[in-house]
This record gives sequence, structure tokens and C-alpha cells, in this order.
Amino acid sequence: MGGVFVKPITGVKGEIRVPGDKSISHRAALLGGMAFGETHVTDFLLGQDCLSTLKCLRELGVAWERQGTEVWLHGQGMDEWREPTNILDAGNSGTTFRLMLGVLAGSPFSVTLTGDDSLRSRPMRRVTEPLKQMGARILGRREGNLAPITMQGGYLQGQSFQTEVASAQVKSALLLAGLRAKGETSVQEPSRSRDHTERMLRGFGVEVHSSGNLVKLQGGGRLTGQEVSVPGDISSAAFFLVLGSLVEKGELLLPEVGINPTRTGIIDVLKAMGADIEFLKSSEICGEPRATLRVRPSHLKGIELGGDLIPRLIDEIPILALAASLAEGETVIRDASELRVKETDRIARVAEGLNALGAKIEELPDGMRIHGQRTLRGGEASSFGDHRLAMAWAVAGMLSQEGVSVENMTAADVSFPDFLEIIKKVVL
Ligand code: S3P
Repeated sequence: MGGVFVKPITGVKGEIRVPGDKSISHRAALLGGMAFGETHVTDFLLGQDCLSTLKCLRELGVAWERQGTEVWLHGQGMDEWREPTNILDAGNSGTTFRLMLGVLAGSPFSVTLTGDDSLRSRPMRRVTEPLKQMGARILGRREGNLAPITMQGGYLQGQSFQTEVASAQVKSALLLAGLRAKGETSVQEPSRSRDHTERMLRGFGVEVHSSGNLVKLQGGGRLTGQEVSVPGDISSAAFFLVLGSLVEKGELLLPEVGINPTRTGIIDVLKAMGADIEFLKSSEICGEPRATLRVRPSHLKGIELGGDLIPRLIDEIPILALAASLAEGETVIRDASELRVKETDRIARVAEGLNALGAKIEELPDGMRIHGQRTLRGGEASSFGDHRLAMAWAVAGMLSQEGVSVENMTAADVSFPDFLEIIKKVVL
């Protein structure tokens, strides 16, 4: 295999500013494009996924400019969006695809959305079915389950939905469609998923009611352009939280990381495993809490997790599995079958990938059982084009005995461009 070789390290010291939150960057671009007036976004994530959202907006007639991580969107309201003359390409981004379907369901024109090989194999019925019930006309492979998907939007009627899976993409798509529907739209989830859409909609001037796992809004809300400052992505910070916990020496500071409680499951779990993680400076900007995180080396122990915690750390399970492989004792992860329909089947790929490096992981239908061994040999691992696997394998290389050769490391660009270059700056 001719991958990028990542060699073992013993310590890390310094400060890392992780890139902007992926979920919040997508929403800032979408809401800015839907609003009336200018929206100015700072610390926008330049990962491929969020750039896909911006590109789709341009095809729909939304004017924007970008300079580095600053984006200006010149929103004129959704009535000014126009039928795209080409197929919209969401690339690898499930968030772009599903949220865009919701946003466009109320537009009186037709649009076809597609994506890369991975996205074209991911389930879309969870969004297309409820949107059909609201009134959108949708066609796609496997009865609207697989992209490419064509939608003729138009008149929508608000509905009450009870979703089978806790998914912020589904909830957000339905709320965004609900904004343009007649009457009330509500979404009741089995567990609470990330609530960035609700928070940002309020910031743009829309009334959104949340109680427990239920969210509702009235159709017809008008969005007004805003100033949006995007916090650092806790899902990106998670790689450093694990690295900083498991090296022999040093200390890492991660300033301005988003600590929205619907996302901090990874911190709760690492702390329960014995990690030394502290919040140093906390603040709230644009309705989202953030803090400087400090992490120091510690001795981690295995843990059992499942239930409502899973949606709060779903994207962090690959790196958590690495932490558990290097912890003392057994870790069991359950209720995470959603991992099977992410960018890759992250249960199969994580178990297979880490086992090839010397870990001991058994696949479960909805998770995995990890026998912690305190050391990891190293070897070769492929990202299979999945950004979070690429970064998990790179961290595995640093924490291993022999290093890891990571095939397709560039996949990391989807959510964290320059990941390896940034780490090099803090290696002791
Ligand atoms: C996201 C929601 C989650 C998450 C994804 C981003 C979002 O997906 O895994 O990386 O921005 O809404 P699901 O909605 O499928 O759980």
C-alpha cells in the first residue's frame, strides 16, 4: 500500500485552533441564502462538504463571496431562488443533500440532486417520504431512497412527524420545509439530535418551540440576514482530545471549541473513562456555547455506552474506538446502528481497520465490543474515502508502536483540511 506514513510520537504541546464546525457552517450558508439581507459568516469551514453547500447555493441563484474563512451571502429571500440549469452535486455531504431537499421542497420548480459514490448509496427515504407527505413530488432510485433524486417542489402542508431515528439532518430538513408550509410542522425524535438548526433559526428571527425531543414551528417565518461566528468543531477537536489523553507527556489547548450539549457526548465519555479534560474559558456567541478545552495525558479505562448518549457523539465513535483499544478493560458501544449508513459502514470499517493494526474488536449489529490492550502495533489502514477514518488512522499511527501507513489520507479534507500539517506543529 502506498499511503501516508504516520510515525509514533511520545508527546504533544501547544495550542490548536480547530476549523469551524461543519454542521453550523452548512446551516449558516443555507439560512444566509434563504434570508433577506446580508449574512456575514466568520470561521466558515473550508472542508469539501461545506464548499458543496455553497456551490449548490450559487446554482440556485444565491449570490455570495468568500475570502478565506469569511463568507458574505446576499440573501434576497427564497422567492428569488431559481430553477438550476444543471444537476446539483452534494459531493460526499449528507447534510448538503438532506437539508437542501428540505429547503427546496417549497420551491415551485424542479431540481435533481446527486453526490459521490458514498452519498449515492446512503438512505434518503427518511427525508423524501415525509417531504412527500407534505406535498413535494419526488422520484429517485428505490422509490426515492437513493440519489440521484429529482424533486418538484411547491405547495406544502405542515405535518406532525415522529421519526424512527434521531437524525439532525432529517429534523432540519423537515423544519426547513415547514418554514414554507401552511400551518404547523413538528418533529418528535426518539432521542435528541443536535439542535443547531433550531438555535440558528431563532438567531435569524424565526420562532421555534422545543420541549424535550419535540420541535415545532409555524410556516411563513421570515429570516433576516445575520452575523454568524462559527465555533470550532468538537468533532474535529475529538481527535486531539484522544491524542492528548493517550500520549505520554504534554498538554494541548483547543480554543473556541463549540460545546453545545447536543454534541459534547465525547467529552462526557472520555471523562468517564478517566480523561483529564477541562473547560477553561466559556462564552456564548450567536446562540452557541464555546470554550477553550485543555487536555492532559491520563490513564483511560473501558466503559459501556448506548441510548440517548449515542446521537451526542455519533461522529466521534471511530476515534472513541481507538481510545477504547488503548484503554484498560472492555468497552461496549450499543444502539449505534446508524453508523452503518454514514460515509462508510463505520462499524465494519472501524473494527476491520483497528483489528488489522493489532486491536481486538468484535463487531455487534448495533455497535462493537472492544478489548482494550494499552498498546497498538500499527501497520496499514485505508480510509475508504471516509474523512473520519482517515484522521482516526493518523492518530492511531501516532499512538502506535510501529506507525501506520494511511491509504487515502486526503479524504480528511472533507471536514479538516491540513489535518496532519496542523498536528505536526504540536508534536514534541
Ligand atoms: C449532521 C447530522 C448527523 C451527523 C452528520 C452531520 C448535521 O447525521 O452524523 O455528520 O449536520 O445535521 P444524521 O442526521 O444522519 O444523524
